[in-house]
Amino acid sequence: MADVDTDVLVVGTGPAGASAALALATYGVRTTVINKYGRLADTPRAHITNQRTMEALRDLGVEEEVMAEAVPQELMGNLVYCTSIAGEELGRLHAWGTRPDRLADYTAASPSRICDMPQDLMEPVLLHNAQNRGAKVRFDTEYLSLQQDDDGVTVHVRDRLRGDEYDIRARYVIGADGGRSQVADDIGLPLRGQMGVGGSINIVFEADLSHLVADRPSVLYWVLQPGADVGGIGAGLVRMVRPWHKWLIVWGYDINGPAPDLTEEYALSIVRKLVGDDSVKVTITSSSAWTVNHMSAERYSAGRVFCAGDAVHRHPPSNGLGSNTSIQDSYNLAWKLAMVVRGVAGPGLLQTYSAERAPVGRQIVDRANQSIADTARLYDALGLLDTTDPERMVEHMAARKQATPEAEKQRAALREAIAFKDYEFNCHGVEMDQRYESSAVVPDGTAPEQPVRDPELYSHTSSRPGAKLPHAWLTTDHRRQVSTLDLGGRGRFTVFTGIGGDSWVRAATVVGERLGIDVAAVVIGPGQEYDDLYGDWARVRGIDDGGALLTRPDNYVAFRSSGAASDAEAEAALENALRTVLDRA
Ligand code: FDA
Repeated sequence: MADVDTDVLVVGTGPAGASAALALATYGVRTTVINKYGRLADTPRAHITNQRTMEALRDLGVEEEVMAEAVPQELMGNLVYCTSIAGEELGRLHAWGTRPDRLADYTAASPSRICDMPQDLMEPVLLHNAQNRGAKVRFDTEYLSLQQDDDGVTVHVRDRLRGDEYDIRARYVIGADGGRSQVADDIGLPLRGQMGVGGSINIVFEADLSHLVADRPSVLYWVLQPGADVGGIGAGLVRMVRPWHKWLIVWGYDINGPAPDLTEEYALSIVRKLVGDDSVKVTITSSSAWTVNHMSAERYSAGRVFCAGDAVHRHPPSNGLGSNTSIQDSYNLAWKLAMVVRGVAGPGLLQTYSAERAPVGRQIVDRANQSIADTARLYDALGLLDTTDPERMVEHMAARKQATPEAEKQRAALREAIAFKDYEFNCHGVEMDQRYESSAVVPDGTAPEQPVRDPELYSHTSSRPGAKLPHAWLTTDHRRQVSTLDLGGRGRFTVFTGIGGDSWVRAATVVGERLGIDVAAVVIGPGQEYDDLYGDWARVRGIDDGGALLTRPDNYVAFRSSGAASDAEAEAALENALRTVLDRA
């Protein structure tokens, strides 16, 4: 007999675990979440919070709370390349959708804004809301092992305060225990790639740098200082944590040697070098070493146990995809677990988690590592790769100031290399456009749309089954604006239709009752509860007025019918779609 009984046990309170607990509790699932330590993240770690994550948090009702603490997009974007914060600037890039043309793209794509939310502020928002909605949280509780049977999972844990061990019985387990996941190991998830492809040090410090950065606000300042790391290029990253007095430096070390001794003196010497203004008062808060990884799991689950976050994708911070992908994993998984726990879906629905999320994990691990490799273009343009002598490197960097044809070429190469970093800092398609193929999506026989612009850099909306519901601003009562995304989600399926689509509305009620689930219906058009006064919905919906889109609780399109249908046709089509998605065929 286990000491604790729950429907879902979540191991870990990082971005993946805390958001899983939040979503599950929001959907009314009995959830227990454990963390080996007695605290949440104690350093800022991940920070870029992209629009897709913010859409998920908006649906879970915590977007405003996050925005209240986050640094907004307008302060994020003057990404600087320089020789030190106080030193010479080599170039800038409008990052995170702040270049005027990209700002239009980002603004049009979503009701939510990208923002900078340090992980040590994000985790408390996720977890305290989970707790408020009923999730039970156990700190100082370490996962040790698990055993699965036909009805559930028995998880053996240690109470690290009392020192004793006990069992938690759960119907399902989520292993969100990070990059050294014991759960992923225990269920034998096939991980491919390499751990430890690079070494990094994080140094968190307090220093008022307002006078150096206020005119070019940014979350990231890249410093190139040949010789600063004994012979190498001396590339370091100074990241804003709180404007403009709290910072984090990321500094590489040779993974083939031992990690440097992280004394305060060592940390201070790096901060001094990268800031470049010795008159600034600096207080070191913490320093830690971590490794850069290139690894993802081919499968995210085994039986009743599912892994999410760094447990199944491990990669460097480039593109800011770490906690975003972790939160999005959990958002994908939670509604499926909720439906199965409630008994309205079959176990096949849970298999779709792996089918939908493992390709995303592979993509973002490759993308993040490629972005690191792409930085070589910049070093090359500055002439840093054809010598190991720091003095020569400095000369090569300065050569671009001359009035010679070679220098003009060098200036052009540097501009190009910086612009190419759009693949790291304005990678809107990667951030937004995850398309799913699984049995929780009913194909409508159409071919995937061909993107008209680079699919990594640009987001393309689509209403094809497997795509996220397109965002469009609608009006209600002719005044208040709501996004289409606000009408879906909330743990239920939703049918979107227009004038002439009454049969879909009736079918939503009838089929919902028959299957024991809530199927909302939204009718958009003049004289209806929601109107498309801008005409934006008509441009993106991909169906006629009388057609229908069926969205899942995560606002993904599950089924699409382009035109009007009779009552019998609508009922049959909707029932078939829902039975397929819910594994009740
Ligand atoms: P995460 O590692 O955050 O959480 C794991 C959780 O599981 C923790 O609560 C842990 O205590 C718990 N746990 C582990 N073992 C357990 C056990 N046996 N029993 C119970 N609980 C257990 N990313 C980025 O985008 N930008 C950045 O700058 C950085 N910087 C950075 C610095 C450092 C030092 C680290 C460690 C990581 C980063 N990252 C990052 C990566 C980013 O933090 C990471 O992608 C997310 O935290 C992943 O979230 P998860 O919830 O999957 O794991």
